[in-house]
Amino acid sequence: MSGYSGAHSLRIYPVQSLSGSLKVPGDKSISHRTAMFAALADGSSRIKGFLESGDCIATLRAMEALGAKVEMCAEDEILVTGTSGRFENPEAPLDMGNSGTGMRLLTGLLSGFPVRARLEGDRSLSKRPMGRIAEPLRKMGADISLLGGEDRPPIEVAGGKLKAIEYELPVASAQVKSAILLAGALAEGKSTVWEPRPTRDHTERIMAGLGLPIRVDGLAISIEGSGGAPLELPAGDRFVPGDFSSAAFWMLAALAAGPEGHVIEGVGLNPRRTAFMDVLRRMGAQIDLESQSGDEGAEPYGDLRISGDGLTATRVAGDEIPNLIDECPLVAVAGALAEGTSEIADAAELRVKESDRIAAVCENLRKCGVAVEEREDGMLVEGARGRIAGGVAVDSYGDHRIAMAMAILALFAREPILVRDVACVQTSYPGFWEDLESLGAKIEKED
Ligand code: S3P
Repeated sequence: MSGYSGAHSLRIYPVQSLSGSLKVPGDKSISHRTAMFAALADGSSRIKGFLESGDCIATLRAMEALGAKVEMCAEDEILVTGTSGRFENPEAPLDMGNSGTGMRLLTGLLSGFPVRARLEGDRSLSKRPMGRIAEPLRKMGADISLLGGEDRPPIEVAGGKLKAIEYELPVASAQVKSAILLAGALAEGKSTVWEPRPTRDHTERIMAGLGLPIRVDGLAISIEGSGGAPLELPAGDRFVPGDFSSAAFWMLAALAAGPEGHVIEGVGLNPRRTAFMDVLRRMGAQIDLESQSGDEGAEPYGDLRISGDGLTATRVAGDEIPNLIDECPLVAVAGALAEGTSEIADAAELRVKESDRIAAVCENLRKCGVAVEEREDGMLVEGARGRIAGGVAVDSYGDHRIAMAMAILALFAREPILVRDVACVQTSYPGFWEDLESLGAKIEKED
């Protein structure tokens, strides 16, 4: 448990330099999916590198409520004993906490089972759109009620006999794609999903690795359903690489690391996740891959050495957006640290994440003395390295990625920045503050 876990507000001081190397915690997206498939498998799976954060623990608790057994072993290691493809009715509502991934993927999965379940979330999750999964899943035959008004949670799902679907995704969303593929695995016939832009493909990789009949043809992904027959999934040892989205904070912090830079170990390098690295490179950072592992098909990972000092402005838009959707707050911070005006466009999805990330980032950057122009689908950020005033309090809006992005900005401000409502980092990176300290940053709890 983090030494800062009870803190509400933390003051982050500017740094002269940072040094050291870090190993980031397991990938959140892969942890959710690995837990779900292990809960369905026939036998026990040992998952190394599992992210023991609020989001993924909520998914584990849901798997237990559906009949799987979960044992926490060593740090970052869990043992999941599966249900041999048969989920039971949960006795109580499934609390998915803050996790859109957990809620959307599990609703898709449960749609294929003859169970009735209610999925709930915290305040932030209760405001997030669920019509985007309800619509295709209803077309497949699932009985789905959205009880929160408009298209919001709680969700009640009664699953069972599904028919296949051919579906063009209206938004580029790996969560929606995955919900359909999970339901499609149990439906009658072949389902196909077309995505408008490439999104993260962890579900496809895991399904293929488990021998499920999935086919990827450019932006079309098809799965042959079992027609309701239990999926026969093998159990076994699984490995979750480090989360690129967590490593991204340290990639930007490396600007303060001197000419040697710093090394981030064991980072997941799935090409559908690494656009932030390309963005930093074209802004002028030096990023070298020191070693790489992972067989073809499995998730690649490696160690990165990062250094750099001056950044120049850039524009991110189009196909790059889904590939760095969770790094957009950091792209904005990088823009604030660059020379020139940076732009984020085609990113309206940011408005329906754990917070409205466009509004949250613009508000916070302005408070720190950075000029920004808010747009419906992004923002313009005027670079102000060396001129970021700080000396203010900013709010995380209960959003883990906003809290961490603002902490990185604080390292480069003139005066310390107080980040309020920081408990949310538990969602994806419980050891974030300790890791920041280990690189040499000064952090103070505010009483
Ligand atoms: C995720 C997909 C992304 C991302 C989220 C995790 C996933 O959401 O923002 O943090 O695990 O599939 P969308 O696919 O809805 O954009």
